[in-house]
Amino acid sequence: MTMTAPLAGRSVLLVISGGIAAYKSLELIRLLRKGGAEVRCILTKGGSEFITPLSVSALSEHPVYTDLFSLKDESEMGHIRLSREADLILVAPSSADLMAKMANGIADDLASTTLLASNKPIMVAPAMNPEMWAKASTQRNIETLKQDGVTFIGPASGEMACGETGLGRMVEAEDLFDAICSYFAVSAPLAGYRALVTSGPTYEPIDPVRFIGNRSSGKQGHAIAAALRRAGADVTLVTGPVALPHPVGVRTIHIETAAEMLAACEAVLPCDIAVCAAAVADWRVENAADHKMKKRAGAMPPTLNFTENPDILATISAHKTRPQLVIGFAAETEDAVSSAREKLVRKGCDWILANQVGTTENPAFGADSNQVTLVTRSTTDPWPTLAKNEVAERLVERIVNFMKETDQTNDQRSPAKAS
Ligand SMILES: Cc1cc2nc3c(=O)[nH]c(=O)nc-3n(C[C@H](O)[C@H](O)[C@H](O)COP(=O)(O)O)c2cc1C
Repeated sequence: MTMTAPLAGRSVLLVISGGIAAYKSLELIRLLRKGGAEVRCILTKGGSEFITPLSVSALSEHPVYTDLFSLKDESEMGHIRLSREADLILVAPSSADLMAKMANGIADDLASTTLLASNKPIMVAPAMNPEMWAKASTQRNIETLKQDGVTFIGPASGEMACGETGLGRMVEAEDLFDAICSYFAVSAPLAGYRALVTSGPTYEPIDPVRFIGNRSSGKQGHAIAAALRRAGADVTLVTGPVALPHPVGVRTIHIETAAEMLAACEAVLPCDIAVCAAAVADWRVENAADHKMKKRAGAMPPTLNFTENPDILATISAHKTRPQLVIGFAAETEDAVSSAREKLVRKGCDWILANQVGTTENPAFGADSNQVTLVTRSTTDPWPTLAKNEVAERLVERIVNFMKETDQTNDQRSPAKAS
């Protein structure tokens, strides 16, 4: 099983109904195809107002099905065949209208008829205006569908295309992809392994309203947590404050300070793999105020005294239940690789992903791509600039190989894996 085709051999029937979020389904088709899945698509009449059958069929590399009474498709009873050939049916986006039909057994077009005739698991990713979502009729339909065994993914909260804000946004294509991978749990070279990932910045309080933080967006750490989950690991993500959704299927613990991050990490141990991607503050304010500091006319500005924070990477590396593989990150503004090698030895971890940050070529913080060098005790492997999720995939491939080799050498399961 390779990481590049976690859905190889799987067939997904994607039903796209009428909502603005239909554009996200095009990206989902691309991800599913890249993941190795066969994708067949039904586009409702509403759906085809938002995206074209041509885009859907070009991306899925199959004809797109739109018409219940199509002589061509129904000569083979298309509405039955489409559901029988699929391993899973995903409705994304699911309009309020289509959910209402599903909840009430209405079958007046190809999508609703196929769903009624289906004998396969159904997942629904709703997308609608917050008022439509909150409406008693919609909520009744959701309850009915849940009782009928339909799985809901989302919706998420946020700003809508209509300009209103609230619950009703369809979750992102990547999250749907992750949910499907988790469902199949097929890309499981790390099944049975427990992984800990830290991500994001820490916030160190100055007083109850002010803090010292950093520019970490959490994108890289979250991508690694999602990739480890796709590889079948049981993942706990300990994250500082970030504006990112939880990776699907990943246990996520929110913290603010370095001390809280350490406590949360220690509670996760023992585990097999630890990836410390968080940008943990080296220092915290020793004399943080209990009340908001006030500016007073003529008074001197406050003096902040700093004290060192616990070193999470070093603590995990030296822990009595040390994970088999401990990986750190070194974001440096100069000499990233030599600093990384020195850090590897000083902290006692196994690998460091070094990145030179703050350069025009590699801003790293907040960006969607990253240029890293994987530094181990004996090797230095510079990777090209990659999207952060590609960095995550590549790292997980290396982790899979390492765990396989180590398990073969030891011919025994690690304590965490065996537990
Ligand atoms: C611009 C526009 C955006 C729409 N967005 C949504 C939406 O996000 N969610 C939804 O449930 N309905 C939305 N609708 C209404 C549906 O398209 C409509 O209820 C349609 O009958 C659904 O058909 P379907 O069953 O083929 O999806 C929208 C309509 C318009 C004109």
